[in-house]
Amino acid sequence: MGLLDKVHQFQTARQLMNAGLYNYFRPIESAQESTVRYNGREVIMLGSNNYLGLTNHPRVKAAAKAALEKYGSGCAGSRFLNGTLDVHVELERKLADLVGKERALVFSTGFFANLGTISTMVGRNETVVVDRTDHASIYDGCRMSYGNVRKYRHQDMEHLDYVLEKERGTDKLIVVDGIFSMEGDIAKLPEIVALAKKHDTLVMVDDAHGVGVMGAQGRGTCNHFGLTDDVHLIVGTFSKSLASVGGFVASDADTIHYIQHLARVMIFSASPPPASVASVSAAVDVMLEEDWRHEALWRNTHIMMERLQAAGFDTGPSETPIIPIVVGDDTTAYRMCVRCWEEGVFVNPIVSPAVEPGNALLRLSLMATHTEDEIHKAMDILTKVGREQGIISSKLQA
Ligand SMILES: Cc1ncc(COP(=O)(O)O)c(C=O)c1O
Repeated sequence: MGLLDKVHQFQTARQLMNAGLYNYFRPIESAQESTVRYNGREVIMLGSNNYLGLTNHPRVKAAAKAALEKYGSGCAGSRFLNGTLDVHVELERKLADLVGKERALVFSTGFFANLGTISTMVGRNETVVVDRTDHASIYDGCRMSYGNVRKYRHQDMEHLDYVLEKERGTDKLIVVDGIFSMEGDIAKLPEIVALAKKHDTLVMVDDAHGVGVMGAQGRGTCNHFGLTDDVHLIVGTFSKSLASVGGFVASDADTIHYIQHLARVMIFSASPPPASVASVSAAVDVMLEEDWRHEALWRNTHIMMERLQAAGFDTGPSETPIIPIVVGDDTTAYRMCVRCWEEGVFVNPIVSPAVEPGNALLRLSLMATHTEDEIHKAMDILTKVGREQGIISSKLQA
């Protein structure tokens, strides 16, 4: 039946369901806390991007409620026309200040922020240069642009130099994740900026996982390296540390002026609703005031990393609260996730094409609000399941 052939032939998910290895679209029955309720049971959450633990914070929720009362449930239009509220503008000021840029522009998702920014900034006969493991939304932004797309091997600076050299004579933008979303390594920003200068190229950092996590008070990866002025565009999302949904790009006033009048996802799609926007605004305030969250997030990260490595797990290149456990084949990743859940830990399987085939992993992520007790309990379960599945040897100390 033509178009429907592929629909009927798609069996991958059903096969996993039939084998009891399906780990997707799992309905959680509680708030996104360090322990959540899933399938009627309490499980320790090691699969959330709620790094600072703000999604259930009283001030964040109160701000959302107040905005809902004042402005209603939605804006019924795009930012460009009737969908901009004073709270959008206020949040943009706060975000620009947070990441150290002149202006910021709020989009309905982080995905849209990448689509809108890359597709407007890179035009015909211009080139966008991406790290091979950049996020899917960066790739889709590249597809939407009319420019050339060139990839360099993950974190390989010699290769980046080579790719930039080959593009000599064209105007270029390097786009890189601040923290890589699956493996938790940090972009080599000092080297990238130096190469960008050498090849007269602009840099954009997608700091979806860096805002709230990296830099002074969680101001992001560019702040961490002291390179805010050398990175022309900083993208962020609200769906991780900032406890809601939406995204932004920050840059100089002229660049933001240009993007806001030309990005199709800004002009032809509805603006983020008032409750979300107000909750992000409150989340930024809480993040800056409650310094302990940032510290607790890193303390928890170090405890977890040390225990995982002592138990013999391969944590890949991670240096951040995103910690992979490399398990190899996809089926082992699925099986480990199911077993972890049965034992009381929620983790996510990451399989190809999100990672290279044969490099499947469990993606763990820490929150500021995990207690040490939760981390140790989770570790005991991971160790038990890891041994059972042959990922680690039973001889090593956990
Ligand atoms: C690196 C990166 N960029 C962009 C996004 C998209 O953000 P959002 O979920 O807000 O659309 C994500 C989220 O998965 C991400 O990990």
